[in-house]
Amino acid sequence: MDTRPFRSVLYIPGAKERALEKATTLAADAIIFDLEDAVAIDEKARARELLAQTLQSHDYGTRAKLVRINALSTEWGASDLDVIADARPEAILLPKVDNAEQIEALARLLDARAETSETRIWAMMESPQGVLNAADIARAPRMAGFIMGTNDLAKDMGCRFRPDRLPLMLSLQMPLIAAKAAGIVIVDGVYNAFRDEAGLRAECQQGRDMGFDGKTLIHPLQLPIANEVFSPTEEEITLARRQIEAFDAATSRGEGVAVVDGSIVENLHIVTAKQILAKAQAFAELTE
Ligand code: COA
Ligand code: MG
Repeated sequence: MDTRPFRSVLYIPGAKERALEKATTLAADAIIFDLEDAVAIDEKARARELLAQTLQSHDYGTRAKLVRINALSTEWGASDLDVIADARPEAILLPKVDNAEQIEALARLLDARAETSETRIWAMMESPQGVLNAADIARAPRMAGFIMGTNDLAKDMGCRFRPDRLPLMLSLQMPLIAAKAAGIVIVDGVYNAFRDEAGLRAECQQGRDMGFDGKTLIHPLQLPIANEVFSPTEEEITLARRQIEAFDAATSRGEGVAVVDGSIVENLHIVTAKQILAKAQAFAELTE
């Protein structure tokens, strides 16, 4: 079972030296080093050089490192990949993915260089076309995860932001189902009002309930909330232990079903219970 955490996935604009420094000690499970929309056009060239150097000189520990390049159809995409390849990136995050052919094209470019032989691909899910093609995209070569781009999606859908996210619900759930079917990671979109802790917490809880692995974040203030909400709670851990005990006892009596707190516990609940305990242990080791 893969227990690598993606509870908190922090965007850092590639041109912001101070933020790049700071991130070596922040409690983020993963970092998105951004060369795309968080970098002004005049800064694109400087940001990619700075980022390539930073990735080679800084130690970001166990944090997963994703580099978001500009789309390959833009004037910056190919140079981004060229310069970043020298830093042997763990993963490239491709923005504005509409179809699997775009992933295949990137995979061929990665295949062509020894430095990127191990590099995985993540895709932004942020267009109606991408959402419709999510199942094919999730199964394309080198794919490791989806990141929801909810701001771009809302723009293209012409929908309004609401606390319950009802207008976006189908666009969130189609990539979710595609990710689960392909066995890849999926991380929810950002919460723009980065000083509104209650609003962020509610949206994290909704994303957690839906099955997202974590939330993308834009400011360090948001880290503790995402880390907490996407970790198993004490109640979940206690219940998981009791379910496993009760099920073991039932099995030793030759029965296939146990009852805990008035609810049935079958083998499939034990799979979930074991996942909760494995995650809880992996996350606890991280903070030790
Ligand atoms: N990653 C790492 N560090 C960050 C950070 C980030 N995303 N955002 C802010 N910080 C750091 C700042 O460098 C500052 O550090 P310091 O106190 O040691 O100097 C500290 O956190 C406090 O920052 P603050 O002054 O509150 O924020 P700001 O007003 O400078 O910036 C934003 C606010 C939103 C512009 C900034 O957080 C940001 O650029 N976020 C990322 C946006 C992005 O990547 N968008 C693309 C995807 S949607
Ligand atoms: Mg976007």
